[in-house]
Order: sequence, then structure tokens, then C-alpha cells
Amino acid sequence: MKNFLSVEDVPDLTGLLHKALAYKAEPFVDKQLGVGKTLGMLFMNPSMRTRISTQVAARNLGMEVIVFNVEKDGWQLEFADGAIMKGDKTEHIKEAAAVLGQYLQVLGIRSFPKLTDRNEDYSEHVIRQFAKYSNIPVLSLESATLHPLQSLADILTIKENFQQPRRPKIVMTWAPHVKVLPQAVPNSFAQWVNAWGEADFVIVQPEGYELAEQFAGNATIENNQDKALQGADFVYVKNWSSYKNYGKIIRNDTSWMFTNKKLALTNNAKVMHCLPVRRNIVIADEILDGPNSIVIPQAGNRVWAAQAVLSELLK
Ligand code: CP
Repeated sequence: MKNFLSVEDVPDLTGLLHKALAYKAEPFVDKQLGVGKTLGMLFMNPSMRTRISTQVAARNLGMEVIVFNVEKDGWQLEFADGAIMKGDKTEHIKEAAAVLGQYLQVLGIRSFPKLTDRNEDYSEHVIRQFAKYSNIPVLSLESATLHPLQSLADILTIKENFQQPRRPKIVMTWAPHVKVLPQAVPNSFAQWVNAWGEADFVIVQPEGYELAEQFAGNATIENNQDKALQGADFVYVKNWSSYKNYGKIIRNDTSWMFTNKKLALTNNAKVMHCLPVRRNIVIADEILDGPNSIVIPQAGNRVWAAQAVLSELLK
């Protein structure tokens, strides 16, 4: 695997899932693989789970890790080709990425969208320029439109929690929020579930919150949450801002919060969320503190997902 920016970089998804499960069973089996190699993690935005789980994963493989908070500690970067750099941007991505490629063996990047220009965000120009100019494998720690490490952990969690001889029904439901959030997690989850191909997949959202078709793919699309939840084995709860009316909260219907009343419509579904989650806005306490929530083991699986991916990138 050359880079890990989306599921499209994964030649063997089933193999990657097996590898992650194998690392969960035996975390230190490849502790020599990364000896003498360094993972650099550049954060342009906050993170807890991705930052720590990926460091643990790298160390399980024997790697050194350097974490760099670009906004706080770095020079402001220019990404425009041909820019006349007379403003506050001090360094061009062409030099910055190339220099990082001299020091590191794998480069992780977290870069959220600005949510003002859809074409710019969906071109993924930030992470793609790191990949272009660093000349080393680049690992997405969540980009403008995708969060593949999260999605791999999500599929892993679903696989572990479903042992029946039939396809699970997975429902990803929009939920209300107080802030404008990217589409990266739902885009990515949809892309991975579609690529996995082993589930009946429904996306339900209020009208106007449809995801980009390139990620929703063949999922069944619904606007009626109660109808969509019928018979669900897994409910993935997540807020996202509008793709059509880009980066906007077009309505915030609080009745879409996930509660025990909603859970009762499902097939005793396991409830998932990528975290962080705003309690009693997105998901009610009664769910997060109840027996159907699997958000903590889901977050725990971030380590094994990252370890499997790093192992492939080190090859
Ligand atoms: N789910 C997730 O990526 O969490 P962090 O933003 O804390 O890394």
C-alpha cells in the first residue's frame, strides 16, 4: 500500500481486517517491523483518539513517533501553486513536505475542511499535496472528506459484534448537533461499508443532508428515520452538515436524537458513534450508558486498525 487516504488505497480489505484482528490478539507479534523507522503525525486540528491510538499502534510495531501541532508550533503553509508569498504564509508545501520526507518513513496528516468551498475541500488538495511532495507513504488521520482509519475500526467492530449466518442491516442516521461538522466520517463510513459489501446498508437523513453520490454509492437512502431503523442490527449515529448547501446547517430537528424510543424500533441494535459525542444532543445518556452502546470498544479498535495500516505502509 503506497498511501492510506481512502478505501481505494486498500488492495485487500478482507486481508486488512484479518490483520487488524490478528494484531488485537497478538499486539507485539511484529514489534521488529518498524525498528529504526519514524512516524511523523502532523495535526492541523484537534484530536484525542486518532492521535493516541495511532501512536500506540506505531509503538507496537517498534516505530518512533513524532507528533507536530502545525497550527501551534509550525510555519503557516502555502498550498497554492505559483503563489507570490507576500502574506502571512511562510513556507510552501513543496518544501515543507519534501523536508519531512527526508526525516520520516511514514507521514500522518490531519486536515479538516474549511467548509466554505466545496470544490476545494473535495479536491483534497491539502493531503494530496503532502502525498505528492513528501515522497514517503502518507496516512490520513482524517482529511477534508474522509476518515479511513475510523472506518476500518468501524467495520472491524461490526464484524466482531455480528456472528449470525446472514447479512447485518446497518443504518447510518443523521443526528442533530450544535456546530457545523464535516461530512468526512459519514462519507468514509459509507465508502467502506459499500466496499466491504457484506451488509444491507441504509443511510437516513432529513432532506437536504444527502451525502455526495460518490460515497453514498448503492446504499438505500431514506428520509424517514423511524422507518429506516426497523430491523437494524447496527445504528451508526452521526451529525454532518449539508453537502448540497455546502457546509450549512439547514435544519436541526432535535427529534432525530438517538434515544431508547428509537432503539426500540431496531433489532436490538448495537449503537455506534466515532466520538467525541455531545450527550443528549446527538445520543441520549440512556443509550450511551446502556447495554447497546459499543462506542468504547469501537474507539478501542482504532489501535488495531492503525496497526494493520502502518504495517502495510511499512512494507
Ligand atoms: N474519532 C476521532 O477521530 O476522534 P479524535 O478526533 O479524537 O481523533
